Amino acid sequence: MARADAPGRVNLIGEHTDYNDGLVLPTAIPQRTTVELVPRADDRVAASSDGFPRISYRLGAERRAGDWGDHLRGVTWALADAGLGTGGFDVRIHSDVPVGAGLSSSAALEVAVLRALRVAFSLQLDDVALALIAHRAESGFVGARVGTMDQLAASLGHDREALLIDTRTLRIERVRLPRELALVVIHSGVAHEHSTGGYNTRRDECDAAARALGVPALRDATSDAVARLAGTEPLLARRARHVVTENERVRAFVDALRAGDLVACGKLLDASHVSLRDEFQVSTPEVDALVALLAREAGVYGARIVGGGFGGSVLALARRDAASGAASRAADAYRSRTGCDPRVLLPRASSEI
Ligand code: GLA
Repeated sequence: MARADAPGRVNLIGEHTDYNDGLVLPTAIPQRTTVELVPRADDRVAASSDGFPRISYRLGAERRAGDWGDHLRGVTWALADAGLGTGGFDVRIHSDVPVGAGLSSSAALEVAVLRALRVAFSLQLDDVALALIAHRAESGFVGARVGTMDQLAASLGHDREALLIDTRTLRIERVRLPRELALVVIHSGVAHEHSTGGYNTRRDECDAAARALGVPALRDATSDAVARLAGTEPLLARRARHVVTENERVRAFVDALRAGDLVACGKLLDASHVSLRDEFQVSTPEVDALVALLAREAGVYGARIVGGGFGGSVLALARRDAASGAASRAADAYRSRTGCDPRVLLPRASSEI
């Protein structure tokens, strides 16, 4: 039997930059997906996952079904497409990465399954190649046209360390997180949905903005060119302005982190939220309320929406000794103000991070 696992991730800064060839800074979270996989003598895959219906299919006959199993079907489809076929297998999946929270439960599942398949079928895949197969499963099969951040973070990330990823070159630098820094993640209670709606629309808008600016990707746009575009294409200019300024914030954040300046890191998080809310327009009134409630807590350096947007989770950077209290006070105030049902995902009760 092959056993493997992979973590969820939270992105510290660099949101909606990965499909614009830009910079991201995710870190692994303690919540993980674990799989136990046993090869079979035939070409069938049978999978079970806590709380979800069992699925079964034949290798080579993967069809999208619109259920959780698409992430698994996508993995075997993408492997075969890359010329890395496997035999059939039984797999049991267990996960405490929350679904629909913007913490990348799907990448954790795909990477954990691929790690187990790599062992069970002796696949020649390094960690970056493995992440790119997981990404192909998600974008080419499941139909969420996501960037590469989540799969790279699940495949290469560790707790207490952020990955500065240049999504154009795939150059990765590891950046230590200071001991006194704690991450707060609260699910807003408003589920986000990738494969439909807003996310793909934003991608199309970014592509259109890059075309209007005459650059290969928004990564290459300058602030001056974006300011000129505002005269003719105000909406596209707003999307582009977010991407250009967000890439600058990633660089500034890494410098501040290395200098141990957590106050500066927090201000960059706040600025990222304003840009995601007003320029990129992926926040919701509920999420804005949660960000504001967190930001006013003592010991919180800054807060913003994380992940694909349109609901999902909020991230705050906090002083370690202040994090739990700030998270539960903000969640309580948010519940009574909005009637939504928030969930504190970090720090965990056992407080690993
Ligand atoms: C989702 C996608 C990522 C990235 C973020 C936004 O999490 O899966 O690829 O685009 O949204 O930064």
